[in-house]
Amino acid sequence: MSRIAVVTGAASGIGKATKDLLQSRGQRVIGVDLRDAQVVADLSTAAGRTALVAGMRELLDDSPIDAIYANAGVATPTPTTVAVNYFGTLATLEGLRPFLNGAATPRAVVVSSMAALMPTDDELVRLLLAGDEAAALARGEILAKDPQTTGALIYGSTKLALSRWVRRHAAGPEWAGSGIPLNVVAPGIIATPMTADLIATEEGREALLKMVPMPLNGVAEPVVVARLLAWLGGEENTHLCGQVIYVDGGSDVVLRGDAV
Ligand code: NAI
Repeated sequence: MSRIAVVTGAASGIGKATKDLLQSRGQRVIGVDLRDAQVVADLSTAAGRTALVAGMRELLDDSPIDAIYANAGVATPTPTTVAVNYFGTLATLEGLRPFLNGAATPRAVVVSSMAALMPTDDELVRLLLAGDEAAALARGEILAKDPQTTGALIYGSTKLALSRWVRRHAAGPEWAGSGIPLNVVAPGIIATPMTADLIATEEGREALLKMVPMPLNGVAEPVVVARLLAWLGGEENTHLCGQVIYVDGGSDVVLRGDAV
């Protein structure tokens, strides 16, 4: 029996590369996205999160899911990023986790970012980890209007909180205790529509690489991340648990040195 994978954000970039790679390996992939997907759902809203679970129930017809790839995200300096990146991702993990029951080798992977290593807003991270969506969105509004940071701290804060959430839960009864490896991939700069404008010119690319140094091979193609996701969500991954794996051409090493 081929594996059944769910990929959120499957219509573009890393999600599309992951979907294509898994399909090329004979897997059935259920894509979730705002458009061009088997399950069309807006993960920033309660209605979209409900539609995700309902759509999955309809498509699966009692078959279990083998792997969840919680990848959908946005990088706008607005509260929407709070809703999609953090709460949309948790809704994906928590809403789809019951569908892993009955799978022989269930797996889950979350896409965070090396931006979690950049300056973040402590208060937003705190509210996210407290699970208070209304307060986190309100904090997002304040940060978006801050004349100094102009929302720039929002994205990294959502990704830091996401990585921390996984560290807090991966060893617990819902995940490791249920035989499900749950891990995080944290990419550096990847050439997708999300970054297209930023890296369109040589100056833009250089400026970004100054902030996010990638000494090993520079900006990466989305398939680079897809390959790692595919392994983490595949049968061979029996013991990686709660790890945040940077696929970033060395940014983490440059920024954090020998911290492990
Ligand atoms: P992308 O913009 O190419 O693809 C993101 C996909 O998510 C799109 O198809 C979009 O429609 C979908 N999406 C956005 N909001 C949604 C919502 N409310 N509900 C459902 N789907 C929604 O971006 P990319 O680069 O492929 O990003 C994928 C993930 O990788 C994101 O979580 C992003 O934060 C992360 N990432 C990307 C990096 C990069 O340099 N491109 C670096 C580090 C992390």
